[in-house]
Amino acid sequence: MKNYLTRRGFIRHAAAGSAALTWLSSNQAPSVFAAEADKPALLGGTPVHTGGWPPWPTWRQSWEAAVLDVLRSGHWFRGAGEHVAEFETAYAKLLGAKRCLATASGTTALLVSLHVMGVDAGDEVIVSPFTFIATYNAVLINKALPVFADTDPATLTMDPASIESRITDRTRAILPVHIYGMPCDMDPINDIARRHQLAVIEDACQAWLAEYKGKKCGVLGDLGCFSFQNSKHLPAGEGGAVTSNSDDLLDRCNSFHNCGRACGNFKGDRPYFTRGSNYRMQQFQAVILMQQFDKLVRETEVRRENADYLTAQLRQIPGIQPVRLPENSRAVWHLYPLRYDAQQFHGLSRGKFIQALNAEGIPFGGGYEEQYYDGLLDEAINSRGFKRLFSPDRLKAYRDSFHELKGNRQVCDTTVAMYQSVLLADRGDMDHIVEAIQKIHKHSADLAKAAS
Ligand SMILES: Cc1ncc(COP(=O)(O)O)c(C=O)c1O
Repeated sequence: MKNYLTRRGFIRHAAAGSAALTWLSSNQAPSVFAAEADKPALLGGTPVHTGGWPPWPTWRQSWEAAVLDVLRSGHWFRGAGEHVAEFETAYAKLLGAKRCLATASGTTALLVSLHVMGVDAGDEVIVSPFTFIATYNAVLINKALPVFADTDPATLTMDPASIESRITDRTRAILPVHIYGMPCDMDPINDIARRHQLAVIEDACQAWLAEYKGKKCGVLGDLGCFSFQNSKHLPAGEGGAVTSNSDDLLDRCNSFHNCGRACGNFKGDRPYFTRGSNYRMQQFQAVILMQQFDKLVRETEVRRENADYLTAQLRQIPGIQPVRLPENSRAVWHLYPLRYDAQQFHGLSRGKFIQALNAEGIPFGGGYEEQYYDGLLDEAINSRGFKRLFSPDRLKAYRDSFHELKGNRQVCDTTVAMYQSVLLADRGDMDHIVEAIQKIHKHSADLAKAAS
């Protein structure tokens, strides 16, 4: 947990107060402590939760033998060993995909997929703006423009109604992101893609086992991309995968990720039939991932049960809006998000709300910010390459279009979220989360006054 917090930097874990003060339920507590416990911890009261939260990642001693076997075999590279291929077969089966290609990371899975779907210099890709920055980068590295669809404030995912107006004669693909493990509404997205002959690449880097209408995320478009970075539900330090039901596309992905070496149906006279790079997974990554399938399935159930419980409790608090999922879909909650309405908390700012929760021992943070203003896109569109590929008018219109992302702005301004391992805690700990938010709501006038 601590490493994750440092890496992502947006969940500021609570300084949960004096260790000497343990939580006393109101019927056990002497009245002086009952009053103290009711007072927000940020104003000097007793924190609701002092017990810490489950760490991440976790491993078992029983995995060590398999890792040592790889070490001792000397077959560390996928070309000489079987573990990466075993992982690919097993992961495809877990997802109900025809094929899987393991990659070095989620970013390289996206790079492979964009290349294989024909995204080239000077093209445009319609992207969800509310995502980890790697989604933007993968498009930019292909010298294409990430054109942002708006975010639906109710679902935090790509609003299908905002896609068509952004399609130009340069658009090649749509890149929806199942952010926080919450499935995008894929039927309308696929329908638009079909009508405009666009590829659909799912960024499922946070959505292992998430489901939409009976199918797993990652097999809903042409290609699906996954990440197995350390913070993820199926972690291997780094790692990634591309999934698909198309042999042709997966053979192309395999070749591109392996320096252009011909693979599957493309094997012929020439050893190299395409450009390519080295985006291969190592045997060590594969063997660590293989140990965790049962754990992933079991922990996904626990996260879902706790998230459902929280949602049912928290939606009763004025000003707290849990996320709406598309019909007949199941999230896996890489983060558990809520929309916060400061008006219902006497104007207590989102930042102060988060601070008050952290003081209660509840590790909420903010979500993604409006990253298109962070300078990365300005650097790209002012580069020599982009200026050569796009007209000044197109680049100006592109830059100006960020102001149209009203839904995304609302989401960035009002979302608060908790990291996945919190959902692996006990039901009693979930009650602490509910209790802390109720307490802050009850005392929001005092908290807002103290903050002003
Ligand atoms: C939505 C999303 N896309 C892409 C990536 C990139 O994956 P990786 O860090 O494995 O390169 C991540 C990883 O955090 C992600 O969360």
